[in-house]
Amino acid sequence: MRLLDEYGRQATDLRVSLTDRCNLRCSYCMPPEGLDWLPKPELLTDEEVLRLVRIGVERLGITEVRYTGGEPLLRRGLPGLVAGTAALEPRPEISLTTNGIGLARLAAPLREAGLDRVNVSLDTLDREVFHKLSFRDRLPDVLAGLAAAAEAGLAPVKVNAVLMRGVNEDEAAPLLRFCLEHGYLLRFIEQMPLDAQHGWQRENMITADEIQERLAGEFSLEPLPSAERGSAPAELFAVEGSTVGIIASVTRPFCGACDRVRLTADGQIRNCLFAREESNLRDALRGGAGDDELADRWVGAIRAKRAGHGIDDPSFLQPDRPMSAIGG
Ligand code: 5AD
Ligand code: SF4
Repeated sequence: MRLLDEYGRQATDLRVSLTDRCNLRCSYCMPPEGLDWLPKPELLTDEEVLRLVRIGVERLGITEVRYTGGEPLLRRGLPGLVAGTAALEPRPEISLTTNGIGLARLAAPLREAGLDRVNVSLDTLDREVFHKLSFRDRLPDVLAGLAAAAEAGLAPVKVNAVLMRGVNEDEAAPLLRFCLEHGYLLRFIEQMPLDAQHGWQRENMITADEIQERLAGEFSLEPLPSAERGSAPAELFAVEGSTVGIIASVTRPFCGACDRVRLTADGQIRNCLFAREESNLRDALRGGAGDDELADRWVGAIRAKRAGHGIDDPSFLQPDRPMSAIGG
């Protein structure tokens, strides 16, 4: 069985949110006071997560597993989850999307457990801007986490950056300079309407074109052919012996090549970040469903995947769950 939708896309990249909690409050994600976190009994246990991941990998063609949040490093069982995932056949690629806080301590044990790669969010190199943007004074922890990831061999270390007008829009070039100097691969992501407080405004989004212009002021960028891009959403440019990516999620959507499926921390399959419906595997699992039935339900959840996110349609509705609950 495969996870095919009506448009011929196959989901092979599974993103698993391990918690909706976070120790930062990035304004494009959640309000300063935080959110009503999911109650513990609603969260999948480590065993339940591993059972669903196993079904995805063994029966449904999942080849890549990415653990996300919220902040996945807040989940105690993470090293065990990674080790359990690495023991699956065929062994999937295992990656982690994190804000980097706690990575200084966890990078080496996670590498040992079988983690292949990390993506660390870093939107600014200015401690005050970081504090203002995320409501926490934690920039040094993030930088230490990045260094530890590289040291532990979680390569290539990727950095995700979201630029916002009037906040950190002038940091495109400094962030690229920093990443080139440290050997990190930088990816800019256009801000999407995914924040819990519904504050997204198109005018405040720094577009891919603007990012490219700002970088071109200081760097010579050579576009790489899209064949090298595959289903990866980043438009890649060669720069100084490395690459930089710009992910134009809003202005040049890549939904036609999407190979992703998401499992929320409370056990719902979401076929898209912007999906309006979820498929409740947790209740099926807790109700005694066998692997066959869970796989069938999962296949059914993918079949209904929409063609695109439709952010530009007049009828677009922001998903009722924020990014932190869905899993980046
Ligand atoms: N738009 C774009 N990217 C976002 N992220 C979180 N919220 C948004 C948003 N509204 C990014 C974070 C992190 C990853 C999980 O997704 O920067 O790197
Ligand atoms: Fe936390 Fe990531 Fe949301 Fe920032 S974007 S508040 S790091 S979950």
